[in-house]
Amino acid sequence: MINESALLSLLADGSYYPHSTIAQRLGLDAHGLQQHSAQLRELGLVIETDPRGIRLQRPLELLDPQRIRAAMGEHSRGLLDGLQVHLQIDSTNAQLRRTLDQQHSGNHACVSETQTAGRGRHGRRWTSPAGGNIYLSVSWHFPTEVRDLSGLSLALGVAAAAAIDDLETTPIQLKWPNDLVCRDHKVGGVLIELQGRPQQGIDVIAGVGINTRLPAEQAGAIDQAWTDLERITGKPTPRNRLAGRLLHQLLETLDGFSGDQSGWQQQFARRDALNARAITLTYPDGSRHHGTARGIDQHGALLLENDAGISSHQAGEARARPDRPNPAGL
Ligand code: BTN
Repeated sequence: MINESALLSLLADGSYYPHSTIAQRLGLDAHGLQQHSAQLRELGLVIETDPRGIRLQRPLELLDPQRIRAAMGEHSRGLLDGLQVHLQIDSTNAQLRRTLDQQHSGNHACVSETQTAGRGRHGRRWTSPAGGNIYLSVSWHFPTEVRDLSGLSLALGVAAAAAIDDLETTPIQLKWPNDLVCRDHKVGGVLIELQGRPQQGIDVIAGVGINTRLPAEQAGAIDQAWTDLERITGKPTPRNRLAGRLLHQLLETLDGFSGDQSGWQQQFARRDALNARAITLTYPDGSRHHGTARGIDQHGALLLENDAGISSHQAGEARARPDRPNPAGL
């Protein structure tokens, strides 16, 4: 009995496979092949059939635990207790919450080819079709002695940007607090979920979504300017390498936060896409604050300057005014 993963692994190279080859390699008859290819289409994959057989419209580098681990550093590999790779899951963050509920400890990671209920910040959905994007989460436990986690979400944004830098393809900026952007178009985001355990500290689940290949027809629900790495670089993204570098950078940052918390503020400043720009900050209650962005403070709060002086803001959604271009030209 095969599942759709086996069919996807066979088709991943983008070549045409005649039905006879599939029958021989996977033991699938015509009805089974139809059923499994329908399931792959439901995941968002584009499958073509013609007299030559069946193929994936675009070749796909499938997520592979060994290749992901190989792209990490030796130290970060040692920090990780378990790595789950799924074809489909509701949300990689939700999956790690279930893992922690069962196992109570350890640093775990989860990646999936697609999510059926991907979560974004501000209660939004995160568009998560199969076919090339990265959906990745990592969990970490902070013992009770580590009290100040302010700035963690910015530090993890810096880590995610550094992971894309490791591919040496394109410079990534950060839009406060942790949107990954390129020329003011969002390419990814970070969702941090915290849960305290009585007398035992705090579990953090950090989820990162990166648009590596997002077809326009699947991005209809996104309500802001977006892009993907393939559009920016003109080439397919090495997904296992990116997932491995993401895990490496996130784990090293989480490990550092347990210690001296070094460096994230300066690193954020170097990538700050809003600094010195005219912005509007919209609070969760809908109230709006206008002014010029003046970087961040030591707790990761956004500094906003206007006639009333400089104020710091912990929450809200910041948008650069479209009539004022990004001075860095990024
Ligand atoms: C944002 O809104 O900018 C944050 C998006 C975070 C999406 C990622 S995808 C992997 C992980 N699982 C989820 O359900 N959400 C995060």
